[in-house]
Amino acid sequence: MEFMLDTADTKAIKDLDTLLSIDGVTTNPTIITKSGKDPEQAIADIISILRPEQKMFVHVVSTDYDGIMAEARKISALRPENMYVKIPVTRAGLMAIKQCAKEGIHTLATAIYSAAEGYLAAANGADYLAPYVNRICNYTNGVAEVVRLLNMLSANNMKARVIAASFKNANQVNELIENGIQAVTVAPDVVTQMYNHPATELAVEEFTENWDKAYGRKTLFG
Ligand code: E4P
Repeated sequence: MEFMLDTADTKAIKDLDTLLSIDGVTTNPTIITKSGKDPEQAIADIISILRPEQKMFVHVVSTDYDGIMAEARKISALRPENMYVKIPVTRAGLMAIKQCAKEGIHTLATAIYSAAEGYLAAANGADYLAPYVNRICNYTNGVAEVVRLLNMLSANNMKARVIAASFKNANQVNELIENGIQAVTVAPDVVTQMYNHPATELAVEEFTENWDKAYGRKTLFG
């Protein structure tokens, strides 16, 4: 499974890339605004810290077909490889995804709220599909809808990979990993929930304390 970070915070990306195995970074317009930087600079800063094999996903802002295509071609040219254009699955977006596939532009179909939207984007040639798990929960069970999409793709031998997004807690991520999700994109605060169980630190403190009491030091070798 691929593990992406859903953020434009370069400090958090560097920190988590040292700590964990990170396969790429996803952004969206709201995430870019939170960086407080000029948008082109924010994107360039992320690209500058990624290794070539790590994937980068940039979301278009235009909502009409011509605007989406113009942005998609520019985004795609920002890096020689592993550059993906995020396109929402609106009518204009679905048309653009189809055209991008013809032009060899890699896409991630985003703002997916139903398995049907994901299936149609996959049929149009999207490389990745991003269902918004937590936001789907406003309408139905988000995890179940993503599992339905996974089943639809596998039943039809479709090659698009599902990158589950919009997580608000670690348990939502866990449930999809259990169900064989191909990729997830997770915001740094939810990533922290995944590895930072308070009992882990307490267990280490207990071992150190017992060792110190017995041997008068806090290291294995004296
Ligand atoms: C996915 O690619 C989106 O950037 C993101 O996960 C949306 O999440 P949100 O619901 O936190 O805005």
